[in-house]
Amino acid sequence: MSTRTPTIGGNWKMNLHKAEAIELAAALAAKADDFAGVEVTVFPAFPYLIPVADALAPAGGKIKLGAQDAYITPNGAFTGEVSLSMIQDAGASVLLVGHSERRHVIGETDILVNDKVLAGLEAGLDVVLAIGETLEQRESGKTDAINTGQLGYGLAGVTAEQMKRITIAYEPVWAIGTGKTATPEDAQKAHSVIRQAVAFLYDQGIADAVRIQYGGSMKPGNAGDLLAQTDIDGGLIGGAALKPDDFAGIIAAAK
Ligand code: G3P
Repeated sequence: MSTRTPTIGGNWKMNLHKAEAIELAAALAAKADDFAGVEVTVFPAFPYLIPVADALAPAGGKIKLGAQDAYITPNGAFTGEVSLSMIQDAGASVLLVGHSERRHVIGETDILVNDKVLAGLEAGLDVVLAIGETLEQRESGKTDAINTGQLGYGLAGVTAEQMKRITIAYEPVWAIGTGKTATPEDAQKAHSVIRQAVAFLYDQGIADAVRIQYGGSMKPGNAGDLLAQTDIDGGLIGGAALKPDDFAGIIAAAK
């Protein structure tokens, strides 16, 4: 039995508008007492960080607020960007970095991902580093090479002490939003290799302590089998996070 605290994140992506975001946050806040024993974080889109933070207030801190991205420099002449201090000002304590949609759609490089990891840690945020292979990479047998490569780049310069504030999210790109969930066995194998890579980069104690979430079509119906795997410590949820009962069902399976 793992001593790692289960962690479930809800990545709302570019979904919802203000009223829906507030309604979802309020529904989750009303359920927060049921989340005891599981670390829960929601990642709304930038415009709704503050109203969602306000709607989560009745949860008394039982649900953390995260940002899906942030830029790496302090405030300044960076049109269109949002700074780390701004997301913190809005109430966020967690930063998601390296999501495959930012890597493969927006074009974020491993170097920029690492810059954001280091800047987020320096700013005092907890950081979720997302990694994962594409279907082509999996089918060509490169899954572990891609994951350990993205991990190594993403964690470059992260100290052993800072690793206490890092969560890794393994998200096979081919499972995101597709309904094609990785089998528990395949997900466990990928997580095990990722944990071994952390042991190589740091030490076994840090590897044993770091939490690794699975992301990619996790639903209430499959969460139990995935979360029962030795090296799967939680989930990063997309579609199911937009439905409070489904998200709560996944959290319940993480206990
Ligand atoms: O960041 C989590 C997300 O990419 C997973 O999406 O819809 O497959 O749960 P979904």
